[in-house]
Amino acid sequence: MAEINAAQLLELVNSRRVDGDSGGDARVRAITARIVGDLFRTIDEFDVQPDEFWAAVKWLTRLGQADMVGLITAGLGFDRLLDIRLDEADLAAGRAAGTPRAIEGPLYVAGAPLSRHEVRLDDGNEARGAPFVMEGQVIGTDGQPVPHAVVDIWHCNESGRYSHFDPSQPAYNLRRRIETDELGRYRFRSFLPPGYAIPPDSPVSELFALLGRHGNRPAHIHFLVSGSGKRALTTQVNIPGDTYLDDDFAFATRDGLVVALEPVQDSAGYESLGLHQPFTRIRFDFRLQDAGSEREAIPASRYQTVMA
Ligand SMILES: [Fe+2]
Repeated sequence: MAEINAAQLLELVNSRRVDGDSGGDARVRAITARIVGDLFRTIDEFDVQPDEFWAAVKWLTRLGQADMVGLITAGLGFDRLLDIRLDEADLAAGRAAGTPRAIEGPLYVAGAPLSRHEVRLDDGNEARGAPFVMEGQVIGTDGQPVPHAVVDIWHCNESGRYSHFDPSQPAYNLRRRIETDELGRYRFRSFLPPGYAIPPDSPVSELFALLGRHGNRPAHIHFLVSGSGKRALTTQVNIPGDTYLDDDFAFATRDGLVVALEPVQDSAGYESLGLHQPFTRIRFDFRLQDAGSEREAIPASRYQTVMA
C-alpha cells in the first residue's frame, strides 16, 4: 500500500478513520472530503508546483496572523453569498421580506454604549465634518412600530478606520446603540463617513493586486437591529454619490439600501442633538421580519468580536 497514485491518496485521505463507520462528524467529513477533492483537482488541472503551493500556505498563515480572514471572505463574495442564500430561503418559505440584509464585515464590536431614542456618534466634536442626522422607525413587516428595539450602529472615522481595530481611537468611537422609544423611533447625529480601502501592504491587498482587483468600499454605515419577537437584522446603508457605489469590493450594495440625503434648513426640534444650523438628514425605517425562533431574535454577530 506504500506506493499509491493521486486518486488512491484522495480516497485514503477521505476514508481513514479510527472508529469504523461511526468515527467523526458525518457532515464535517463530507464537506472536508469535497473541499480536499476540489483542491486535489485544482492542483492537477493547473499543474501547481510545490513552490506555488507552499507560497499559498504561507499566505494563508499570514492572512490568519493579520486577522484578515473576514476581509477576504467579503472580497471573494462569500459574505454576500450567505445573504443571497438567506434571501432565497425566505422566499421559498414564503416569509415576508423586511429591510434587505447586508454583510456584517469583520469590524463589528459588541457592547457599544446604549442610549434611549437618540445619541450623538461624533462625541460632540463639531469639527468632524458637516453634521448629519439619520432618523426613522423600527417597524415590523406589518408596519407596526417596534418599541424598545435596539439599533446598533458603527461606522468608520474620517480616515476610513474603525475604532477597536485602530488603536489610535478611543474605545467605542463611532459605535453606539439606541433603544427605540414607544413608537419605535430612533435618531442619531454624526458626520457622513467616507468610503475606505482594504489595508495596503497586507495579505489581502497582495491577492487583490494579483487578481487585478481594487479593494475599495463605498461610503456606508453598519447596523444590527433587533427587537422583541423580531428577527435580528444585519444591514448597511450606502451614502449616494460614491464612486464605488456599484463597484463595491465586498459586493454589499443593494437596492433599497442607498439612502437619500435631504438638506434641512430649520434645526428646530433637533436642539437636543446640538443642532442650531442647517444639516443633512437621512430618513430610514428598519423593517424587521417576525422571528421564526428565539435564536433568530438574538442580535448575534456573525463574526463576533468582543471588546477586551
Ligand atoms: Fe464598513
